[in-house]
Amino acid sequence: MQNMFKGCGKMKKLLSVVAVALFVFALSVCGLAQAAEKVGVSMPTQSLQRWNQDGSNMKLQLEKAGYVVDLQFGGDNDVPTQVAQLENMISGGCKVLVISAIDGSALTTVLADAKAQGIAVIAYDRLIMNTDAVSYYATFDNFKVGSLQGQFIRDHLKLDSEAGPFNIELFTGDPGDNNINFFFGGAMEILKPYIDSGKLVVLSDQKAKDQCATPGWSTEAAQTRMENLITSRGYGPNGTKLHAVYSSNDSVANGITNALKDAGYAAQNFPILTGQDCDVTSMKNILSGTQSMSIFKDTRTLANQVVKMVDALLKGTKPEVNDTTTYDNGTGIIPSYLCDPVFCTKDNYKELLIDSGYYTEAQLAQ
Ligand code: GAL
Repeated sequence: MQNMFKGCGKMKKLLSVVAVALFVFALSVCGLAQAAEKVGVSMPTQSLQRWNQDGSNMKLQLEKAGYVVDLQFGGDNDVPTQVAQLENMISGGCKVLVISAIDGSALTTVLADAKAQGIAVIAYDRLIMNTDAVSYYATFDNFKVGSLQGQFIRDHLKLDSEAGPFNIELFTGDPGDNNINFFFGGAMEILKPYIDSGKLVVLSDQKAKDQCATPGWSTEAAQTRMENLITSRGYGPNGTKLHAVYSSNDSVANGITNALKDAGYAAQNFPILTGQDCDVTSMKNILSGTQSMSIFKDTRTLANQVVKMVDALLKGTKPEVNDTTTYDNGTGIIPSYLCDPVFCTKDNYKELLIDSGYYTEAQLAQ
């Protein structure tokens, strides 16, 4: 009798072990089912360092979180390529699309398809305009980027204490990128009063955003425009003095640097020149004393935030946002998460870029 009870106990134990094992197995199957969910990541170009970094960060972090990732780059800023890639992501079963648009106003039709199929869309770094398919936006505080650049020029020319006048030329980025409204707008909010008072002079008279735009954020286009300004205004170390050039980002600043170097400028007499992204080429220029500053946007932080957004959307919870007033895409305000940009010069790059593991010293060696 006793043996029978003993046998029963053993049986119970065995059954409960089997039950636990089944439960764990079921959980892991559910886990795997969730892990198989597919996320499309669409980046604008591979020709710029920043988007390669953003793309690989996103892929890595999404895969770590258990998702399958379809990462695509839109050729070299080619809108039809980006649209075709998004169509494939939609038909290929992606549940969320993370998009950095080449032209913020060119995705209305393709994203209507995404919305019709219940696919969530997150605008990555650049807002996507004129579509109600965008659920969330994650970026850096783009107005602050412009303000930091404008403040740098104001402080380094000592516009509040020196008499001037100082000559400046202005460059921003691609006209289809909504960010330039914020970069250029933020910088001009600081600089315009000095332009209006005559302390800052734009000899070319090219002061409107459209006149200062650089299609495709192209280094070559920026170089050509700077060369034309040098020729037409006679800028040069022995010619008309050029005190500063406002540039919204590094790829544009690099074109300006090339033109200025060709005109004979060197570290000891280089105009103040701003940038953004802390690209390797620009960091080398900053360390050798030509470009003056860049803006550090830690793309690891942005990718991390977007992965959290994707996760929340797919788990049916609310993604974290910290701005619900700034970014209207023409259909209403898009809830946004803004990461913090900081300025970077040769005085603080070690702490910002090297100590944080963003670059090694060897990568920035001349
Ligand atoms: C902007 C972006 C900048 C810069 C630029 C050129 O939208 O915010 O960081 O990379 O595009 O690609």
